[in-house]
Amino acid sequence: MQKTLSIIKPDATVRNITGKINAMIEDAGLKIVAQKRIRLTKEQAQEFYIEHKDKAFYDDLVEYMTSAPVVVQVLEGENAITDYRKLMGTTNPATAEDGTIRKTFAESITHNSVHGSDSEESAAREVNFFFNHLEILD
Ligand code: CMP
Repeated sequence: MQKTLSIIKPDATVRNITGKINAMIEDAGLKIVAQKRIRLTKEQAQEFYIEHKDKAFYDDLVEYMTSAPVVVQVLEGENAITDYRKLMGTTNPATAEDGTIRKTFAESITHNSVHGSDSEESAAREVNFFFNHLEILD
């Protein structure tokens, strides 16, 4: 079984649609094996998105991700990383396919409702960033 990190972002927590997003995740066959609602600090958001630190959108991304609570969770499935990325749809909701989370709920490329790890390496780093092994229960 593979694990991936999911974040339900501030635009979704403030609109009270975390349950609707998680219904789509569970309907797609992914299992939520760890979950918590937290408010990221600026330092945590900067560290989490460190790979984007030279991008023009980095400061806005950090500010946005700290603007309201997020729900961080670990998803499990046979191909959890690619299955979840397919379910999320493209980063920019304007190009996301019908039936994806971002097509259904996202407001913009920054306010795009969800994050998902993009590789096995980033999944391992991102899961460990938020959870220890005692908090992951399948
Ligand atoms: P996420 O999957 O969380 O990874 C990085 C985030 O940066 C991305 O989703 C977007 O929300 C955000 N972002 C903002 N602007 C851009 C951009 N021009 N290209 C890619 N990502 C962007």
